[in-house]
Formats: sequence, C-alpha cells, structure tokens
Amino acid sequence: MSDTLVTRPSRSVTEAIQTRRSVRDFLSDPVPEATVREILEIASRAASGGNLQPWKVNVLSGAARDEFVKTVAQRMKEMPFGEGPEYAIYPRDLGEPYRARRGKVAMDMYALVGVDRDDREARARQMGLNFSFFGAPVGIFISIDRAMGPPQYADLGIFLGNIMLLARERGLHTCAQEAWSLWGKSIREFTGIPEEDVVFCGIALGHANPDAPVNALRTERAPLEEFATFRS
Ligand SMILES: Cc1cc2nc3c(=O)[nH]c(=O)nc-3n(C[C@H](O)[C@H](O)[C@H](O)COP(=O)(O)O)c2cc1C
Repeated sequence: MSDTLVTRPSRSVTEAIQTRRSVRDFLSDPVPEATVREILEIASRAASGGNLQPWKVNVLSGAARDEFVKTVAQRMKEMPFGEGPEYAIYPRDLGEPYRARRGKVAMDMYALVGVDRDDREARARQMGLNFSFFGAPVGIFISIDRAMGPPQYADLGIFLGNIMLLARERGLHTCAQEAWSLWGKSIREFTGIPEEDVVFCGIALGHANPDAPVNALRTERAPLEEFATFRS
C-alpha cells in the first residue's frame, strides 16, 4: 500500500495522527535545538501512572550525531547484528495475527525500495539504514530504569506518541527505532546512560524526503470490528 506523504504542518490532532507515518528517508535540513526542546517539553505533559514520568531522553544532533553514527558504522563491520539486544523486541513465538502483520509491512516496504524478499544482503542494507537515523539530523534515545515494568513502558509509549504528533504539527516527521536497542553498549558509552537503564528505542526526527519511494509506505490497519467490541 502506498500513497503520498504529507509534509505540511498538521493543524489538528486528527490531522497529525492521519499524516504521521514512519519515515525512513530524511533530508539533511537541520532542526533547531529550540524546536526539539519545545517538542520534548510539551511531550512530557503525557500522562503516566502515578505521575512517574519514567522517560529519560538523550538528544544527538550536529557533530555529536555524526560522530556517533560513524562509530556505530565502524563497529557494525565487526558486529553486523549489534552488541546484543537490550530486551526481546518480539515474543519468541510470534503468533497470528501478529506474525502476518509483521511480514506484510516488511514485504510492502521492501517492494517499495525494490528489495527482493530473498535477498538477505539487500534486506540487511535496508535494516542498516536505521543506524544512520535514516539520514535524520536529530537522533533521540529513550531509556528507562530497569526496575520499571509494563505500566511504565506504556507511559513511554504515550510520551513517544506525543513526540510524533508534535513533530507533525511542526512539519516534521519521525521514525521510532527499537533497532537501536541492539547497540545499547555503544549508546551508553556515548551518552552516559547508566547500566541501570534500558535503552528502549531511538527516534529519528527531521524533514521527510518527499521524493523517497520508502516514504510512500502507507501501512495497513485492522478494521475497528477486529480489535474493538461494543456492548450497550
Ligand atoms: C516502539 C517502536 C519501535 C519501532 N522500531 C522501528 C525500527 O527499529 N525500525 C523501523 O524501520 N521502524 C520501526 N518502527 C516503525 C514501525 O515499523 C511502524 O510504526 C509500523 O510498521 C506502522 O507503520 P507507520 O508508523 O508508518 O504507521 C517502530 C515503531 C515503534 C512504535
């Protein structure tokens, strides 16, 4: 499924939700630090159980972002699969309908970028783009205290969602990246995130490349009847 990416700033929450998508090709145009600060500050109005506000944030841009991306690219030559995951990204036995959904989005994305599903190297190359933040000028890492559990991870999700929608309001796009959880050691080394924290994900933030085929990906959603039940 594909359709045209919307880059103009969203004027309502509904529009922000409808025009948000995971962007995997960014322009190098910079995003002012003041904009990132504003997004994070407003995003922190997210609800969290007990008002724990469990999110911890590290922002990389400019020379710091470039240096980190370069370091990881070097290390990837020795460790193509990263340093070991921070957590299990998916359940070991991913059942249906989740397995099919995961397969479908991957296939749709590879089709758009012209990668054959059996071409492991090309798939790995596409996956590898995660580690340059897909070209975005701003990379954000979200970490959380290891002691936290499912409720606090849900809080992180609300915070993340806010960042994505606030980005749309400013004409920007994002891609959440759990792929970065494969590089927790390097991220810790570079940012000073302590061992007691889990590196949950990265977020690429910037101006989407409107001409990139990969950004035309419009992922499917199950119809309402499939996930909601109403009784009255
Ligand atoms: C927490 C989280 C982590 C994600 N990690 C990655 C990632 O590492 N790489 C990637 O390309 N997309 C990643 N995604 C994007 C999902 O693949 C995407 O949200 C999903 O396919 C739905 O597509 P949409 O965001 O375009 O609506 C992540 C999304 C979330 C919410």
